[in-house]
Amino acid sequence: MTGPIVTRSHRNGGQPSRWLVTGARGQLGSDLCRVLAGAGVEPAQLLALGSEELDITSSASVRAVFADFEPQLVVNAAAYTAVDQAESEEDRAFAVNAAGPALLAAAAARTGARLLQVSTDYVFAGEAEQPYPAHAEPDPRSAYGRTKLAGELAVRELAPEHGYIVRTAWVYGAIGSNFVKTMARLEQSRDTVEVVDDQRGSPTWSADLARGLVELAGSAAPPGLYHCTGSGETSWFGLARAVFEELGADPARVLPTTTDKFPRPAPRPAYSVLSDQVWRDAGLSPMPHWRAALRRAFAEDRAAYLPAEPFPA
Ligand SMILES: NC(=O)c1ccc[n+]([C@@H]2O[C@H](COP(=O)([O-])OP(=O)(O)OC[C@H]3O[C@@H](n4cnc5c(N)ncnc54)[C@H](OP(=O)(O)O)[C@@H]3O)[C@@H](O)[C@H]2O)c1
Repeated sequence: MTGPIVTRSHRNGGQPSRWLVTGARGQLGSDLCRVLAGAGVEPAQLLALGSEELDITSSASVRAVFADFEPQLVVNAAAYTAVDQAESEEDRAFAVNAAGPALLAAAAARTGARLLQVSTDYVFAGEAEQPYPAHAEPDPRSAYGRTKLAGELAVRELAPEHGYIVRTAWVYGAIGSNFVKTMARLEQSRDTVEVVDDQRGSPTWSADLARGLVELAGSAAPPGLYHCTGSGETSWFGLARAVFEELGADPARVLPTTTDKFPRPAPRPAYSVLSDQVWRDAGLSPMPHWRAALRRAFAEDRAAYLPAEPFPA
């Protein structure tokens, strides 16, 4: 077992905030740690725990971390994110996506910590034609969406004064696997790639999302439901073409196709765009446009998106 990512140091004697990040080795969790360090949060103020150091489904472990570190700001970046696999193991997904957040919410309410629970566009049916407002009726169509919605409801019920639900969508970043990396790999291994053009959403760079969450955590915004994605919208086909452009490849090598050609265990929302009205009304900074964010992501760490070794043809 490896140790915590950031050296664990105890109560920091009067420093303004102690941050707990769960799921700290995931795509978002890693960027949260980077953003917090860049924002001047001292190692002693940040407890960043991967799944091996804190299993959020363990009541005893959650209690121990809250008792020992006394976090004031908690960002739950831990989740069961295998969308298709969740169809065949919903119980396991529920444990991580709902029971775990319930434990964190109860601990936050008990101690007065502010809890940011990250959620998803998959709580919606995806049949809308306009961006979903935060208060729109959820209607998840997949096991993953149902478990994430259960997590939202647990946080709202158990920590009504301390819980912030932040829904995001189409997340990619330097750590872990994601659509952007898959397209970069396929660009090297195939002449053409077919990508669905009938699912629309807002690609979100995990570093921008991390910055948004840190801003929200430190703001005077009230608890409740928020949406935070890259601004603008596109289809997966549009995103794939943009990845090819960033790689200096011909985007015409990406061909449009339809969802029915790629049957998968979990249904995908056809329309996933989330309105950021509540976010902006709270005075929080608008999120950067998805296309500009993709450009910055590649400019910051291009190598992270490319396959480690040339892919065999
Ligand atoms: N990725 C997307 O496109 C997307 C879209 C909408 C919303 N979201 C939401 O955004 C958040 C962050 O997602 P992400 O993309 O960063 O996911 P990710 O890369 O899969 O990271 C999730 C992390 O959670 C950890 N984890 C799993 N079970 C755990 C447990 N019982 N206790 C503690 N940690 C546990 C995982 O660790 P192990 O790998 O060791 O299991 C992993 O490091 C999630 O709430 C997700 O639902 C993501």
